[in-house]
Amino acid sequence: MILDPTKPPPDPLAAVTHRDPYRYYRELARQQPFHRDAMLMLWVAAGPAEVAAVLSHPACRVRPPGQPVPPPLAQSPAGTLFARLIRMNDGQRHAPLKAVLQRQLATLDGDDVRAAASASARLLPVTDDHAATANRWASALPVIAIARLLGFTATDDDVTASRIAAQIGSFAAAMSPLAGPAEINAGIDAAASLQTLPLRADTPWAKALCAEARAAGVDDDAIAANLLGLMVQGCEATAGLIGNTLLWLAGDAAGAEDPSTTVAKVLRSDPPIHNTRRFMAEDALVCGVPLRRGDGILVLLAAAAASELEVENVSANTPTLAKRGERAGTFGHGAHRCPGDAVAAALAEASVSALLARGIEPAALARAYRYRPSLNARIPHFL
Ligand code: HEM
Repeated sequence: MILDPTKPPPDPLAAVTHRDPYRYYRELARQQPFHRDAMLMLWVAAGPAEVAAVLSHPACRVRPPGQPVPPPLAQSPAGTLFARLIRMNDGQRHAPLKAVLQRQLATLDGDDVRAAASASARLLPVTDDHAATANRWASALPVIAIARLLGFTATDDDVTASRIAAQIGSFAAAMSPLAGPAEINAGIDAAASLQTLPLRADTPWAKALCAEARAAGVDDDAIAANLLGLMVQGCEATAGLIGNTLLWLAGDAAGAEDPSTTVAKVLRSDPPIHNTRRFMAEDALVCGVPLRRGDGILVLLAAAAASELEVENVSANTPTLAKRGERAGTFGHGAHRCPGDAVAAALAEASVSALLARGIEPAALARAYRYRPSLNARIPHFL
């Protein structure tokens, strides 16, 4: 759907791909911090305190009760993969692996991540079509770089790398509520193929991760699924961060900054993930409102962040939002908060730098773009 950029978005889902949704978000956070959207049939948390409260409420879970896997993916290889991901589960069974992933991702050195992205960039062609090049790089480069860090075969040659990046993208797309039958079938095929990928885990970091997970009693299927999960998680969100950074660079006065400053600003001011969802596991009071088992809550991370920026009158030059656990921004909050925040920022910095070094001009890209259809991720598609 093409939205009129001069009018506010009609609802919080449309805001994700609206040209300038931040005023709308700030008003929503101020005027309706926790409310029922009758059209969407969802509760909506928009205020910073409400967003944080939902994301730390024990009855608010990542999946609806009795539905661990989205029905279109159930009984398929994609469903099997989905059901093993820590991102898609609550509860004690996944706690040991979650702790290992959090610890290990925190030990990754930013320079090593940037080096993996720069090395992976050599596998991706730059064509005369700079828009297509930027789109392809934004989607594929973070995935290939994470695969390289993990020791997957993806980085052996450009054909394998591109195929694996495309399969991760297909699986991620199949999880979207917007996925149609073709996308779902492609995601199922991709998941089947991804689960046969040989995992060499031959980098020191990947070896340490696997050894720690096994020592914590985690089985190999769960480890392999969640290593693929790192690529899946990194895929669309980091593509959005790269694209939004390129758009930011196209704006005035930003060109001379170092990439990490720009990426930090974009994470605060035009973030790639705008919302997530929670579902009530039981009847409970949430933000003072009695909710029923099964109720869905749309959690507007971007509204909370935009409102905090305004309320605190924090200068966009102060990169505090990305700091772990401080508040509910684009990386979430509470038990499922993104453990890949620093990795994502380093990947985006390196990817943008590599594109600029190859002559891609942000101002030219910004002349024609739209956002990829999505209900939660803001990912520019350059035309
Ligand atoms: C700009 C890029 C990224 C953004 C904005 C982002 C955002 C998020 C958000 C909002 C969540 C929480 C979802 C929820 O609570 O419902 C999340 C979870 C997660 N992210 Fe990221 N992410 C990014 C990149 C990455 C990367 C590069 C990795 C891996 C290296 C990663 C790994 C994960 C994992 C494993 C989870 C699940 C955590 C759990 O459930 O305990 N993310 N991410």
